[in-house]
Amino acid sequence: MSNFPADPVFVVGSGNLARNFLLKFRDIKIPVHGFLARNKTLAKKIEEETGFPAFDHTKDIPGNTSFCFLAVSDQAISEVASGIPPISGILIHHSGTTDIEAIQCVRKKGVIWPLQSLTAYSHLNWNEIPLMIEGSDKDVLNEIQKFASLLSPIVEEADSARRVMCHLAAVFSNNFVNHLIAVAFDIAKSEGIDPTLLIPLIQETLKRVQSANPADLQTGPAIRNDQPTIARHQELLSQHPEYQQLYNMLTSDIIRYRNINTTKK
Ligand SMILES: NC(=O)c1ccc[n+]([C@@H]2O[C@H](COP(=O)([O-])OP(=O)(O)OC[C@H]3O[C@@H](n4cnc5c(N)ncnc54)[C@H](OP(=O)(O)O)[C@@H]3O)[C@@H](O)[C@H]2O)c1
Repeated sequence: MSNFPADPVFVVGSGNLARNFLLKFRDIKIPVHGFLARNKTLAKKIEEETGFPAFDHTKDIPGNTSFCFLAVSDQAISEVASGIPPISGILIHHSGTTDIEAIQCVRKKGVIWPLQSLTAYSHLNWNEIPLMIEGSDKDVLNEIQKFASLLSPIVEEADSARRVMCHLAAVFSNNFVNHLIAVAFDIAKSEGIDPTLLIPLIQETLKRVQSANPADLQTGPAIRNDQPTIARHQELLSQHPEYQQLYNMLTSDIIRYRNINTTKK
């Protein structure tokens, strides 16, 4: 067994990321001093699941902590960081959109941002989660790289500017796609159609983009500029002006995007 990190780590938080981190640390036998939780019910639950003790004061974080993970809401990172007592190790946040400098007055700091959507009770396959990392200097970055590699084989360096662009791309590929599927389910259900009939199509869409450029894979009335079908769909959506607006916006953009890509070829 590797003895890295030699000193224990500490996790601040008891939310989605904190729980997933603690479960992974337990599985790969990372030495964990404990975690800080305001929510007593969650604290107890995570204690039972992981065997790691919950604390409720930052003063409980030991000075020899090797990595202190701030698994707290983005808005709380600065405030929570400023309340952490001095540690010999590295203070790390996990936000895609928060600058490393949100951790102030600390020399050894960094970021490990998992490029994945996490919920407390999802079963994560860490081997498939890219970790975007940043460090306040070269030595700190090396340490973070070494730690992140224990969690996932996909570790990439990204400064705060690059990370926020990646986060933006993630919003399009996860949040927006998920929203469009939610709308598709609503439309199906409004006519009594079983929405799970759409699942094979959704799976095929996601499968295809793994081996080809999505710009070359578009099908449907917009890419064909099939105006009669588009007009029929718009009419069907007249009772749902908000979905009609979404439909029109996406249809126009598919046509615009096709025109740009055709000119480039
Ligand atoms: N979930 C994801 O998909 C995901 C993916 C990548 C990165 N991240 C990043 O991971 C970090 C944690 O996200 P999460 O999803 O785990 O959030 P979460 O489930 O909402 O949990 C947030 C945690 O922060 C604690 N907290 C909030 N304000 C606090 C404060 N002022 N002082 C002390 N603790 C405070 C909360 O405690 P209470 O329960 O007591 O309020 C809770 O334990 C964020 O930076 C987020 O951007 C999340």
